[in-house]
Amino acid sequence: MPYADWQALAYLLAGSLFVLGLRGFTHPVSARRGNYLAMAGMVIAIIATIGAPEVKAYGFIVTGIVIGGVIGTVIARRIAMTAMPQLVALLHSFVGLGAVLVALGTYLTHAHGGAPGAVLRAELGIGALIGAVTFTGSLVAFGKLQALLSTRPLLFPGRHLVNLALFVLALAATVHFVGGGSFATLVLLAVLAALLGVLLITPIGGADMPVIVSMLNSYSGWAAAATGFTLHNDLLIIVGALVGFSGAILSYIMCRAMNRSIVSVVLGGFGGGDAAAAAAAASGDRPVRVAAVEDAAFLMDNASKVFIVPGYGMAVAQAQHALNELREMLGEKGIEVKFAIHPVAGRMPGHMNVLLAEADVPYEQVVEMEEVNPEFSACDVALVVGANDVTNPAAKTNKASPLYGMPILEVYKARHVLFIKRSMKPGYSGVDNELFYRDNCALVFGDAKAVCEKLVAELRGRH
Ligand code: TAP
Repeated sequence: MPYADWQALAYLLAGSLFVLGLRGFTHPVSARRGNYLAMAGMVIAIIATIGAPEVKAYGFIVTGIVIGGVIGTVIARRIAMTAMPQLVALLHSFVGLGAVLVALGTYLTHAHGGAPGAVLRAELGIGALIGAVTFTGSLVAFGKLQALLSTRPLLFPGRHLVNLALFVLALAATVHFVGGGSFATLVLLAVLAALLGVLLITPIGGADMPVIVSMLNSYSGWAAAATGFTLHNDLLIIVGALVGFSGAILSYIMCRAMNRSIVSVVLGGFGGGDAAAAAAAASGDRPVRVAAVEDAAFLMDNASKVFIVPGYGMAVAQAQHALNELREMLGEKGIEVKFAIHPVAGRMPGHMNVLLAEADVPYEQVVEMEEVNPEFSACDVALVVGANDVTNPAAKTNKASPLYGMPILEVYKARHVLFIKRSMKPGYSGVDNELFYRDNCALVFGDAKAVCEKLVAELRGRH
């Protein structure tokens, strides 16, 4: 059998493993297996690709794999779970840059043996266009998530017109290139698309970043698929389409979860309120109730239903193990405990689920927003652990708030709400939480892990 047939079979196997891998990611129980299947698919794909007889430059390839492998291993071992979104954004930017470089390189290679045909030109033009938007857009997203750039929406007058003009120019340059334009046109369209990537992502505020990261994930998939057409690599087309579609579906799910329209997120600055100004105006010197750990333990000890609402602060403090102990302790006392999960709590999709699974919290006690919201009015204590934006009633009541329209966990309906956080600082969106000032709410100041451990000790002492 010729090598091309073996390779096609290997690609089919790898593609199937990627599909099964994605399927595994749909539930925490099967996610680990999904990862192993996808990794096996990638090993098969790499061997089948570099084993091809036309591949000659093994020195370059092995050097690249070794350097990339070492960098990847070091980053993977060191990266904090909370920094995953920015790492993902950075990795998307590499895919985008890769698509642009393959387009430029392929044109230069073909230019030596005569001008490339229209089909190849279309592949190169589209690859460079999507790749350049993905590259710079992902870099800006990385900058925002890493707090190197402001997370507030950076809006400038007439930005929609400027973006539209840039888009039309980049598209015109692509059409011109496909019709026979020179290398300079290819470079020009990539530069215009790169500028568009910056201008599209810069106005997007913190609260909408999750949607943008998954949308850029989708773009990176389409850029990879375009590269697959250029390189005549079927597997890259399959993988690109898988990433492209799964990213698009995730963006859609997250938009629904945040009650955003994808168009308004992409066009930037949804909500439009000045978050910092809103925070400053709202907080002022308004009094809040402060509870000691002993008071919080007393309330929980006398409850029959306690809902725990984890957020980004739980991830920062790594409080999930202490929370699991708290769950066990309350369970032993006959108190019903549930973990209420908002789809965008934390900093990445499924962030809370992963951490709670790591701490062995049973899946049946982890409940999604739609299911748990109707139950909050029957809940005695809502214990909010390092969550903020996802509980902010301003999302329902304040049209000027950047959070307006996002569904929230309706903790305000609970008889008592206890917020564990370190200060009066707002959450990711920069918006003050008016819940802090309500009569049924008290703040327990401190690091989430330390407070939860003290709560466990206090409840144990009450046995
Ligand atoms: P946030 O609104 O960001 O609030 C987190 C709270 O945790 C802060 O108010 C902070 O207050 C507290 N905190 C931080 N470290 C802590 C620690 N060691 N101990 C105790 N508390 C600590 O979090 P959320 O409610 O989970 O909402 C998520 C936000 O991030 C949303 O706006 C969402 O749109 C955005 N976002 C989500 C994602 C995804 S995909 N999930 C990705 C990017 C952005 P103190 O500083 O006072 O302690």
